[in-house]
Amino acid sequence: MKLIVCLFGIFCYGECAKILGAFIYPSVSHQSTFQPIWKELSLRGHQVTVITPNPLNDPTLTNLTEIDVSFVYKNPKLRHIINNIKKDDHPLKAHKIIFELFRFIFEEEMQYEPIKRLIENQDKHAYDLLLIQYSYFTDPLLAFLNKFNAPLVGVSSLGLLLHGHDAMGNPTHPVVSPDFMLGLPKRLNIIQKVESLFHNFAYRLFYHWYILPKLDESARKYFGDDMVPLRELHKNVSLVLYNNNRLIHEVRPNVPNVIEINQLHIKKPKPLPEDIQKYLDSSPQGVVYFSFGTNVKSSNLSYTLRKEIIGALAELPYKVIWKWEDDYLPDQPINVLVRKWLPQQDILNHPNVKVFLTQGGLQSIEETINCEVPIVGMPFFTDQPTNIQKIAELGMGLYIEHTTVTKDILKNALLEVAQNKKYKENVVKYKQILVDEPMRGVEKAIWWIEYVMRHNGAAHLRSMAADMTFFEYFMIDVVVFSLIVISLMIYISLKLFSYAKMLLITLSRKLKPARNIVLKIEINKVKKN
Ligand SMILES: *[C@@H]1O[C@H](CO)[C@@H](O)[C@H](O)[C@H]1NC(C)=O
Ligand SMILES: *[C@@H]1O[C@H](CO)[C@@H](O)[C@H](O)[C@H]1NC(C)=O
Ligand SMILES: *[C@@H]1O[C@H](CO)[C@@H](O)[C@H](O)[C@H]1NC(C)=O
Repeated sequence: MKLIVCLFGIFCYGECAKILGAFIYPSVSHQSTFQPIWKELSLRGHQVTVITPNPLNDPTLTNLTEIDVSFVYKNPKLRHIINNIKKDDHPLKAHKIIFELFRFIFEEEMQYEPIKRLIENQDKHAYDLLLIQYSYFTDPLLAFLNKFNAPLVGVSSLGLLLHGHDAMGNPTHPVVSPDFMLGLPKRLNIIQKVESLFHNFAYRLFYHWYILPKLDESARKYFGDDMVPLRELHKNVSLVLYNNNRLIHEVRPNVPNVIEINQLHIKKPKPLPEDIQKYLDSSPQGVVYFSFGTNVKSSNLSYTLRKEIIGALAELPYKVIWKWEDDYLPDQPINVLVRKWLPQQDILNHPNVKVFLTQGGLQSIEETINCEVPIVGMPFFTDQPTNIQKIAELGMGLYIEHTTVTKDILKNALLEVAQNKKYKENVVKYKQILVDEPMRGVEKAIWWIEYVMRHNGAAHLRSMAADMTFFEYFMIDVVVFSLIVISLMIYISLKLFSYAKMLLITLSRKLKPARNIVLKIEINKVKKN
């Protein structure tokens, strides 16, 4: 046995590594960004242990150990906090609720016995690489750095919040790259510019004085009081991969250890379930695919909104496939098929699907672009409004406000997108742009993760900006120094000038008598003549 372990160890040296991953946020759409990463790493022979509420549970993945924390989904407090997020919330209020959500999730999961055992592991070198979720407020996961001496790669299922950019030294210009949580358009007017600038200050104060101390407290509770403060651990992040779609999000400058990834969850097409295949095949007039994803439960739609939606769908000349999580849909129209779960990518791939009615989550949008299906978007919260706004700007679909939507607005939007060729043409055009890259999807993510392992970190990619103080970064020291030098020079020049002036005056006084003599001689000369 020992021999086998030893041989295995030798075989693995430099080839495959022990990796610990922690992806704690219970949301299928977010987890679907992460899943392909740990799956692929294990397929490449790495020994992967991962904490996730959405385990793959695939027995063929023999190098993968999944610590299933799906129990958080069932916690009533989770839904309660999520339901508190309103679309029109002040950004700082939304941040506060999301922070509470993440703190709650972290604490719930860390109490789980298998995770406790993991934390109690005294072997500093138990892992060769740490992978953590780096979206929103997952900062306490950095505490794993304190336990295990290994480089850490952060993976975000969306953009980074301002503090995430700060930790890597990424620029966060308030006008060029405003916080995506503000949901601002590409060109800001003067009021929006001011809003973004103030948000940039207010968020930092809020994060450093309110959020971070509380996250530190949470981390200490489970990782011990001798833990290095999170503020310091942030400096040990080797690399960040963040999910950024260049069409939907703004292009932004990134330091070399912040890497854009996208479309990780795009899968190879699979055959559809037989009934769905039949339903789609038998609908040459067209099908509307309708899903609000996993965070917005259809059963949580208000009665009026549901009534308007059902009214609109019933009047369409198309069939509809609706992802509805209840057993029963009241007043279900005859042209509507409902299912609790649907293979979204494979449905969107069907040529008869004309429109996707979606809440506008990034994953859904990437899938629909990949399948060349135009969009009617009805966003609810987080990044959804911005995503749909962008889709509308690019002419790939229409934006519908869920608070004011009526049967006719929705019906007309669906008809317009299904019948006007321009939407489909734009989707095809932008898909070509999206797929035209040297490395894409999960392949790119894995390359960078293995890069960090090969070089035992990526300190050589770290921007100096990450370790500078506010004063240094904004060159306040330079400005103050320059002002002092310039002031001194002006002062000295003024002093010299006034000294020179005084000198001249004194000189001219001394010269006065001499001039009088000259004058007298000249007058005498004139008189003589
Ligand atoms: C597991 O890892 C080993 C090498 O460590 C590799 O040879 C094997 O193919 C991996 N198994 C799977 C199912 O990926
Ligand atoms: C963080 O990085 C510093 C500097 O590279 C290093 O001295 C320290 O040991 C690291 N801390 C952890 C917990 O990895
Ligand atoms: C959402 O739905 C659940 C059960 O389906 C229900 O308990 C909860 O009260 C609903 N919340 C809202 C805001 O409608």
